Amino acid sequence: MQARGPLMIEHRLIEQMIAVIQRRLERAVQVQSIDPSFVDTAVDFIRVYADRTHHGKEEDILFRTLRRKNLSDEHQRIMNELMDEHALGRETTKALVEANSRYRKREIGAVAEVTDRLKTLVAFYPRHIKKEDAVFFPAALEYLTEQEDQAMLAEFWEFDRKMIHEKYKAIAEGFARE
Ligand SMILES: [Fe+2]
Ligand SMILES: [Fe+2]
Repeated sequence: MQARGPLMIEHRLIEQMIAVIQRRLERAVQVQSIDPSFVDTAVDFIRVYADRTHHGKEEDILFRTLRRKNLSDEHQRIMNELMDEHALGRETTKALVEANSRYRKREIGAVAEVTDRLKTLVAFYPRHIKKEDAVFFPAALEYLTEQEDQAMLAEFWEFDRKMIHEKYKAIAEGFARE
């Protein structure tokens, strides 16, 4: 398998979850209310899976490896754009968490803030994923030897192996500090 294999498989699951969020969002806009627990679950998916596990592999392994290569201006520009989009995803998710907490307190206008943030995420992810699958990943391959690609794949598996431990360690330690 090429190193981009697991990243593209993860893209499919992210798309599936984005489609679920989209359906919930449409209903929320119609009825002007949303299940805040669903928002918590969506945030957990985005933070732990889409951002930490998936963007983590892209940024800490793929982009890091490509930074050592002499990327064309165009490919460098796309890589910077992808990183900016990851940052935008993080900021939007943080704002979503804050809006959801205001929504739980029944603050006026909070439902619109929650749905606006969800709209941003639903619009951003499919475009971002398409840019990686169709443009950036094929371009990245041109800079890598087969051996480098396989070394990245091995690093990806090692990165993933740590994720479940990282998540539950953070939960336990978070409660321990209370
Ligand atoms: Fe990405
Ligand atoms: Fe990605």
